[in-house]
Amino acid sequence: MTDNAAKAGVAVIAVVAQKGGVGKTTVAANLAAAYYEAGVPVALLDTDPQGSAVTWANHGEAMGVGPGLLAEIAHKINASDPRRLRAAVDAAVKAGARRVIIDGPPSFARPALAAALVADVVLIPAGPSALDLMPAGATLDLVNEAKAQRRGRGPQVYFVPTSVTSAKLGRELPGGLRALGADVLPGFSRRSSFATATVTGRTVVEKAPRSEAANEARALMRAIEKRRKR
Ligand SMILES: Nc1ncnc2c1ncn2[C@@H]1O[C@H](COP(=O)(O)OP(=O)(O)O)[C@@H](O)[C@H]1O
Ligand SMILES: [Mg+2]
Repeated sequence: MTDNAAKAGVAVIAVVAQKGGVGKTTVAANLAAAYYEAGVPVALLDTDPQGSAVTWANHGEAMGVGPGLLAEIAHKINASDPRRLRAAVDAAVKAGARRVIIDGPPSFARPALAAALVADVVLIPAGPSALDLMPAGATLDLVNEAKAQRRGRGPQVYFVPTSVTSAKLGRELPGGLRALGADVLPGFSRRSSFATATVTGRTVVEKAPRSEAANEARALMRAIEKRRKR
């Protein structure tokens, strides 16, 4: 059992990737929205110094449609080392969160390692191009380093395919990722709705609850929860 699981029913889920623009914030924010919708108290910790999830959250006000869910659950935090990150996680749990989702830092660096050091579950988003596989493998190596440091208490680690299309590479992505050495969870297809929701500071779960995009966010949440119970 991990440190967090020992605190009944709390799970820290870190979304990390070496490559920028691969879908970390999209996965983290929409996954958080799926938990919220399911009635699970959730916090989204934004470790990007540019504050991507928090910036996204503020779009609602800026566009004159009022704040969305992210404005309520997203918090900008300093994740430069595991101690600070752990303090931010503890504060979120103290405030009532039962799932703490860390939107990982923009690049492969100490903060990504810090996130893997405090997480119960690490999600590595990976796009469907041949150029995405190598950085996904490098991220997995870094996360496995953190896992080794924690001996038996390391996180469960999964790849999450992102921006998947029906093209050959998209279909082959799960197999390619699995070969790198981690299990693959249901991912997100390439859909313009994931990008357009951000314009008004929304997640797809809020903006289009009946959409396939929202269903993909819910499916990812269910897959994580199913594996946690095993
Ligand atoms: N599944 C997807 N379908 C379409 N666009 C996506 C998808 N995932 C991410 N994007 C878009 O790609 C860009 C980068 O995604 P983002 O989540 O910000 O990546 P990261 O946080 O890893 O830098 C954003 O403009 C986002 O809207
Ligand atoms: Mg981001």
